[in-house]
Amino acid sequence: MSVKLKLIQAGIGGHGQGVARHFVYPSPDFAFAGVIDLNPDALRAAGAEFGIPENRLYTDYRTAFAEAGADAVLIEVYSPAHYEIAKSALEHGLHVLIEKPFTLTLADARDLVDLAKKQERNIMINQNYRFNTLVMTLKRTLANGALGKLLFAESRFFRYHDGKPYQRAMDNYILLEMSVHHIDMIRFLLDTDIVAVNGRTWNDPDSGYQGDPHVQAAYDTEAGVPVFYLSSLLGQGVPDPWEGIWRFQFEKGSVHLDDRGDGYGVYVADAEQNIVKASPVASDKDGIHGVLAEFAASIRERRQPAVSGEDNLRTLAALLATAQSSREGRTVRLDEL
Ligand SMILES: NC(=O)c1ccc[n+]([C@@H]2O[C@H](COP(=O)([O-])OP(=O)(O)OC[C@H]3O[C@@H](n4cnc5c(N)ncnc54)[C@H](O)[C@@H]3O)[C@@H](O)[C@H]2O)c1
Repeated sequence: MSVKLKLIQAGIGGHGQGVARHFVYPSPDFAFAGVIDLNPDALRAAGAEFGIPENRLYTDYRTAFAEAGADAVLIEVYSPAHYEIAKSALEHGLHVLIEKPFTLTLADARDLVDLAKKQERNIMINQNYRFNTLVMTLKRTLANGALGKLLFAESRFFRYHDGKPYQRAMDNYILLEMSVHHIDMIRFLLDTDIVAVNGRTWNDPDSGYQGDPHVQAAYDTEAGVPVFYLSSLLGQGVPDPWEGIWRFQFEKGSVHLDDRGDGYGVYVADAEQNIVKASPVASDKDGIHGVLAEFAASIRERRQPAVSGEDNLRTLAALLATAQSSREGRTVRLDEL
C-alpha cells in the first residue's frame, strides 16, 4: 500500500461532514492534513472526531494552504465559494477535488482549468453519481446492444428539498445544485456530449427561492439520441430516488432505472414485454469511495482524472445553456457559449 496523500478538507457543513466521516476518514488513499471552515464549532467537532490537532483547524483557507503541507484539497464549502477557494488552492500548488457544481459560471470554470494546466495540477469534480453501482450497472446494460438501436431517452426527478440559505439565494438553483447530476449522467451513460438544448425553468410565486426550482428540457446529443428531462426540487408528494427515473427507448425494447416491481434498479424489457432486473456490477468502491480512489490514482499516476475540470466544462455548459434557452425562448447550441 502506498503512503497516504495528505488532504485538507474545506467545508464541513451539512454535506461535508458526512463526506469526511464516511469517505475521507476511512479512505486508504488520504489522511487529513487539516480542515477549513468559517464555523469554529464545526471545526472543533471535526478535530475531535477525526483526531486532527488544533493547529490544523483553519478558518482562513489561504493560511491553511500555505501551512498545512497538503498534497490536495477537497472543496465541500457552499457552491458560491467553490471558485475562490479552488483558485487559491491551485495557486498554492495543490491538486483540487471540488464538489458539484464546479463553479457558478463558465468563465470561472475555464479560469480554473487554465490555472490547473499552468500549475500542472489536477482538478476533478465530484460527480459522484458516475461512481454509483446502479449508474455503472445502467451504463453497462445500455452498452450491451441486445435491443438494437437506442432511439431516445426520458429522465425525470421530483423531490421536495428544503434548500439551504445559499441555495435559496442563488441563480439557476435546480440546474446547478441538482440537475448537474442528471445532465452529467446523460453524457456519461451515452458516452456523448450535449450539442443543443431547448428548455424552460420556472418558479412558483412566493417559493422563497431566487433561482428557479423547476426545469423541463430537451437535449440534443452528438450521438443523435434526444433526451427529454423534467425535474423539480419543490415536488411535494412521492420523492424519486436521487439518481432519478429513466427510460431508454430502443428499437426492440426498453431499459429502465426505476422500480418495476423488485425495488429501484436497472430493468430490461424486450419486445415481448419480458422484464428482467439486471444484476449489479461488482464494485467495492461505490460512490464517493470511487471518486476518492480515482482522484488519488490520477495524482499518483500523473494523469488526468475521470471527470476532470476540462470534461466538466461540458456539463456546466449544458446547464447554463438550459438557463439561456429559457430566458431567450429558443434552442441554444452549446458552441454559442
Ligand atoms: N455530490 C452530492 O451528492 C452533494 C450533495 C449535497 C451537497 N453537495 C454540495 O456540497 C457543497 C456543500 O453543501 P452543504 O449542504 O454542505 O452546504 P452547507 O451550507 O451545509 O455547508 C457549507 C459549509 O461551507 C462553509 N464555508 C462557506 N464559505 C466558506 C469559506 N469561504 N471558507 C471556509 N468555509 C466556508 C460554511 O461555514 C459551511 O459549514 C455544495 O456545493 C453542494 O452543492 C453535493
